[in-house]
Amino acid sequence: MSGIYPILRPRRLRRTPALRTLFQETEVQLSSLVLPIFVEEGVSEYMPLSAMPGVLRIPEARLAFEADRYARAGIQSVITFGISHHLDEVGSDTWLENGLVARMVRICKETVPEMIVMSDTCFCEYTTHGHCGVVRDNWVDNDATLVNLGRQAVVAARAGADIIAPSAAMDGQVQAIRAALDSAGFTDTAIMAYSTKFASAFYGPFREAGGTTLKGNRKSYQMNSMNRREAIRESLLDEQEGADALMVKPAGAFLDTIRDIREATYLPIAAYQVSGEYAMIKFAAAAGAIDERQIVRETLGSIKRAGADIILSYFAMDIAEQGF
Ligand code: PBG
Repeated sequence: MSGIYPILRPRRLRRTPALRTLFQETEVQLSSLVLPIFVEEGVSEYMPLSAMPGVLRIPEARLAFEADRYARAGIQSVITFGISHHLDEVGSDTWLENGLVARMVRICKETVPEMIVMSDTCFCEYTTHGHCGVVRDNWVDNDATLVNLGRQAVVAARAGADIIAPSAAMDGQVQAIRAALDSAGFTDTAIMAYSTKFASAFYGPFREAGGTTLKGNRKSYQMNSMNRREAIRESLLDEQEGADALMVKPAGAFLDTIRDIREATYLPIAAYQVSGEYAMIKFAAAAGAIDERQIVRETLGSIKRAGADIILSYFAMDIAEQGF
């Protein structure tokens, strides 16, 4: 036989399904996924979100039922977001012992004690202006907000949160929260910092989900999405401040950043596949343009491959119920 014989034939290891599985380098496991949930107080009906098909706001009275359902499906971790009907200038409901932040955590932990409950620690869903902190003279006051973040974190920890996840994008927030937790006796409550959080249009659908009142944007505290060096620096600062895990958010358009941070730290890295990433996949699949399950697998796989250990994704429950 004559012809050309390639010396190197990667196809040998792709010949059968078993060979392909044997040599697969990356896998996304359900145990590494975190399900974000939206819980609304003072309502009795579930509310579908038009920009996030398949995601519902959960009435607080149904949260125990939902937590149990997630656990039975195999979900091990949730992150809680509250839709408050008690807004004020500073978001003080978040640090009341019986405010929505504390109640969401308590309900989840009482229903499923082994579930890992992460408490998103921010103010934007609890303030009249929708900013992530205390506003003074049209400016989010960093240091005044730090005090309130510490209060909220302690209340969430006392309610049983395993992990405090500050997303307010204030300078020094990890240090402030660590100090507040430690002095209240919560030395073993972990902090997963939203350490590299870009000011992103990918959060668009979340604004409906969370019912935010924000006018304007968060560019004076969240990061410029064009900045690579600063993205690494922000995460390393949170490591120095005592974060137990770091996060990149959004995920899909920032895989390079996940990889950069992976190479700059030994801490675990989380990545948040945010509302806009979810919506793009859902709407494209509904239009028949793509295969949803395969796209979910590819996008989550790419986030893992980039270097994330943990992925927050609205697809977590679908994956729990249907597999990949
Ligand atoms: C609030 C917060 C946001 C998200 C998580 N926490 C919105 C924002 O910063 O504007 C976005 C999550 C998503 O889009 O899925 N600090």
